[in-house]
Amino acid sequence: MSPLPLPIRCDRVEAELAELATFSDPPFPGVTRVLFSAPDLAARRWLQGRFRAAGLEVRADAVGNLFARWLGEDPGPLAVATGSHIDAVPHSGRYDGTVGVLGALEAFRALRESGFRPKRSLEIVVFSAEEPTRFGVSCLGSRALAGRIGPEELAALRDEAGRSFAELREAAGLGHLPLAELAPPRYAAFVELHIEQGPLLEREGAAIGAVEAIAAPAAYRIRWLGEAGHAGTLLLADRRDALAGAAEGILAVERAARESGSADTVATVGQIAVSPGALNSVAGFASLGLDLRDINPERRERVASAIREAFVEIAGRRRLELSWERIYEDPPAACDPGLVAQILASADRLGLRARRMISRAYHDSLFLARLCPTAMIFIPCRAGKSHCPEEHASPAAIEAGVRVLADCLRALAG
Ligand code: GLV
Ligand code: MN
Ligand code: MN
Repeated sequence: MSPLPLPIRCDRVEAELAELATFSDPPFPGVTRVLFSAPDLAARRWLQGRFRAAGLEVRADAVGNLFARWLGEDPGPLAVATGSHIDAVPHSGRYDGTVGVLGALEAFRALRESGFRPKRSLEIVVFSAEEPTRFGVSCLGSRALAGRIGPEELAALRDEAGRSFAELREAAGLGHLPLAELAPPRYAAFVELHIEQGPLLEREGAAIGAVEAIAAPAAYRIRWLGEAGHAGTLLLADRRDALAGAAEGILAVERAARESGSADTVATVGQIAVSPGALNSVAGFASLGLDLRDINPERRERVASAIREAFVEIAGRRRLELSWERIYEDPPAACDPGLVAQILASADRLGLRARRMISRAYHDSLFLARLCPTAMIFIPCRAGKSHCPEEHASPAAIEAGVRVLADCLRALAG
């Protein structure tokens, strides 16, 4: 016999999402909540209050990850975990990450109110700095838990104002927790609820995406060195124009990704710096930031090599010097097939249309998948928009996601 429907109250989640959105730097109504900024610290305090009000035990670790635990009746060593992040890129929306945190809280409350008592402990994790805004490194909290960034490297990270991670975490009241003692949590499973941040679910009228794989980015900085000069007097034949070379390079990036043979390969140059940057000067220097993603690491490597070869050819032909710096190359992750099946079964039981899909955005689940069986539940967001103030997930979409999450947690912890 299937259990009774859970008393999920979407109005409560909506009100909390709205309140959390007020912890933000201006301009409003966009949300800007950067790691260890005043709004981030205030939001963390507020959230811990919500967790405690729901009867959860709260603790923080040395990088600022927050854990809110519902103690199981016969817990054993492995908890069942869920969660996401609450930091927000500048001028973004109120749903990215937060739905996975406040949705998890509502799932816990509804489970408790329904009379459910977990055997295994259940835990919500709020990961520190999923977004790379402050330190240029994505998924800082989950990356540290998975041992993909060490204590010294962490402590030495500096933001644009020159403030170190060590100094900022101390100011955030985490100084008494040694970074060297950061230990990976022990979970039987991790399930993250998140907005899709893409258009597929909405386009196909599906309520739930069961994520089978998470694409991972490789990021590079490529510097082109030519020779600056006068835009009027330096003849075209004599030029070593760094920006013209970089521009050819950008088109080669797009071509290499298109020719990979898979729509799952994406490559983006979203950053360019030019020097001297004058209207009437030939550019002597150009630097490009390249983001290259795939769910297949070999294919991503092949595309990276094709881009590098094209850049070398362009630089040779244009007599430019080239340097290629790797910022990071994170491996993609496969979700646990058993958990994916669990999500699909829960959706089916609840009468919700679901589909399998991949995540083209990265998430903390990318790193949790290195520690324990992991999967993600996606819900649609309007027109697939995200990282902008127009980001929107409807109450019905959030409720569907919370229902599936709660159903999965009940099965996993029961
Ligand atoms: C995360 O926000 C990403 O860039 O995928
Ligand atoms: Mn994001
Ligand atoms: Mn996110």
